[in-house]
Amino acid sequence: MEHLIGQLTCRLVDFFGTDARRIEHALLVLHHSLNLCREQTNIDRDIIIAAALLHDVAIRPAEAAHGYNTGKLQEIYGPDEAEKILHAMAFP
Ligand SMILES: [Fe+2]
Repeated sequence: MEHLIGQLTCRLVDFFGTDARRIEHALLVLHHSLNLCREQTNIDRDIIIAAALLHDVAIRPAEAAHGYNTGKLQEIYGPDEAEKILHAMAFP
């Protein structure tokens, strides 16, 4: 689990570059997500980690294409962006 968190965090830092606010936000979401599922047994923590860290990766492409981002644009751009990152690290 720690290896996945480290690997994904490095990818997230590469993705967001100097945008520390978004990186910190993703790490805070990860922290809360892992706390929420701490007592759960039937849960795939790798999915929780990936979802928590990558949940906002659509913001950059949405802003690049439209000059702004919304929840709907994140729904549109998010899956492809997350997939690119996850494929690059051979996430199953
Ligand atoms: Fe968010």
